[in-house]
Amino acid sequence: MKDEIATFEGVTVKYGKVLAVDNVSLTLKGDRILVIGPNGSGKSTLIKVMLGLIRASKGRVRVFGLDPLKHRPQIYARTTYLGEKDGIPHSIKVRTHLEHLETQYGPTVWKTAETLELREHINKRFYELSRGFQRRLALVEPLSSRRPLIILDDPLLGLDLRGRELIEGILREKSEGGSKVIVVSHIMLPGLEPDRLVVMSSGNLIYEGSYDDEVVRRTIISC
Ligand SMILES: Nc1ncnc2c1ncn2[C@@H]1O[C@H](COP(=O)(O)OP(=O)(O)O)[C@@H](O)[C@H]1O
Ligand SMILES: [Mg+2]
Repeated sequence: MKDEIATFEGVTVKYGKVLAVDNVSLTLKGDRILVIGPNGSGKSTLIKVMLGLIRASKGRVRVFGLDPLKHRPQIYARTTYLGEKDGIPHSIKVRTHLEHLETQYGPTVWKTAETLELREHINKRFYELSRGFQRRLALVEPLSSRRPLIILDDPLLGLDLRGRELIEGILREKSEGGSKVIVVSHIMLPGLEPDRLVVMSSGNLIYEGSYDDEVVRRTIISC
């Protein structure tokens, strides 16, 4: 089907004896997908399998119809991903980091940084930023990319309310511009206005369907 982003068929992932994802079958589709569930429920693992960063112990995964273990470059050409870690060198200057990004993504990097209110921090080193601003800086790359699929794993880590609203706003704009957005989170992102919801609990898929506040409330409280 043409709006499918990814399919998982009977996917199980084990880390040694830990069963992180338990026999999940799922079709990911939608424009703004929220993957939600408590800590340790297997959300990040599911995304890593999708990107070919880890291998499923069992099952079959396809992204844009491709096997992520065999076709990672083709999948990455269409995807921008920010994991749970910021992935920025500890002592790099904010300005230097943004200059590096500019060589890849062009002047839009400065616009994104400006929107995320990083201007007054431009001469600081990464380790001198507060936790929330470190995360904002890490978000500049995926939010400046023009690749059609944006995957953010816990983008709101450490962000204050203002930071959250800014990120949600940019993601909505990206979505209006035609990008697909997948956000992994343990908390709700009302400002993202998700259209699709995936709920994980203890390695199991417990809901996949259209976005429903009530389902989120019920599942988050009960899991
Ligand atoms: N590299 C790893 N080695 C061992 N166990 C892991 C590793 N990564 C995740 N886990 C375990 O797998 C389970 C699912 O983790 P994860 O996918 O990170 O959950 P979530 O993103 O929902 O918080 C947890 O029990 C976690 O402790
Ligand atoms: Mg996680």
